[in-house]
Amino acid sequence: MNRDFTFTFGGAVSCVHIQGDTPSIGDIMDSAGKGASKAVLVCDTHTAPIARRILGDHPAPLCILQPGETSKNWASIEAVLRTGKDAGLARDGLFIGIGGGVVSDMTAFAASIYMRGAKLCLVSTSLLGMADAALGGKTGFDLFGMKNLAGTFYPAPLIYMPIAALSSLPGREWKSGMAELIKTAVLDNADEGGAFLALLASLKPLLQDLPISPRVLQGSLEPLVACIARSVGIKGRIVESDPQETGGERALLNLGHTFGHALESSAGLGRISHGEAVAWGMARACGLGRGLGITPKERGDALAELLRAFGYETAAPHPLMGDPRVFMKAIQGDKKKKAGKLNFVVPAQTGAVMVCGEQVDPGLLARVIGGVS
Ligand code: GLY
Repeated sequence: MNRDFTFTFGGAVSCVHIQGDTPSIGDIMDSAGKGASKAVLVCDTHTAPIARRILGDHPAPLCILQPGETSKNWASIEAVLRTGKDAGLARDGLFIGIGGGVVSDMTAFAASIYMRGAKLCLVSTSLLGMADAALGGKTGFDLFGMKNLAGTFYPAPLIYMPIAALSSLPGREWKSGMAELIKTAVLDNADEGGAFLALLASLKPLLQDLPISPRVLQGSLEPLVACIARSVGIKGRIVESDPQETGGERALLNLGHTFGHALESSAGLGRISHGEAVAWGMARACGLGRGLGITPKERGDALAELLRAFGYETAAPHPLMGDPRVFMKAIQGDKKKKAGKLNFVVPAQTGAVMVCGEQVDPGLLARVIGGVS
């Protein structure tokens, strides 16, 4: 099951270890912490048992945050920074984030600003973290009701993905992470003739009875690890080519995110999981792509069918969307806007995905979102 990857993101090397179990703090200090005088561990109440196991009898302090999107805020960042300061961490100190996307993003952000940049290691414990959030250097927290409004690029030099951590993952988190795997598979389709999507489709039974029992998980371990490894490889290559999303391929990783982030904001941050919002956003991206004459009908239909087969909502308007005007305001505030224009990623001919930076007709956008007059 072990798979190791090394990527270089604009001169910063990132090593990823997919492995059976969690590393010990000794393993981490031997690699990421070389020369580090001290470390702090950051987790949430769900991943605290994993963090304690990693820590053993090491004296490093634990900063335990509240779980979920609603705690992805400045108060949590401050708690991480304070733990570092109280522990006497200097710039050579090591922040170790143990958790899913929220913990990874916040620990990495705190490390990036602590004394202008401290050492960082991420132990990714969720499917979403492994499929997407832990890798590639995007950090941040939510501000003024907007997802990741504040953030930095700060790739973690060392990332562990212990598959055993998935055995305690709540059902909602499985659904959230699977959507990011599907997104990466749609991007990969370009040169693989849909092999990744086919591999993913074999995981459908996993989501049918959540949370996943250890027996069912054990039975699907091989394709699951293969999908995670494939996703890491694809994302890593894309980010290597465009580490800070400056006009290259990285924007493609935002497939479903312009609609998805707006849904998360309009529903109220934390009410819908990131992945479920992205899944709905991918269905909207297909609708928009069709309206623009870019997405072939068969491709849009096939993706929507796959999403529904995994149990995602694909219809518009989304039941949790709330006031459509709030949604429209959120989408207009998207941080991926360029020269005042929204950038949507839409599936194109079989195997391709493209960024559409042209001004989209507001009437078309309203029809795609649904419920907006
Ligand atoms: N989650 C999209 C990216 O890392 O660029």
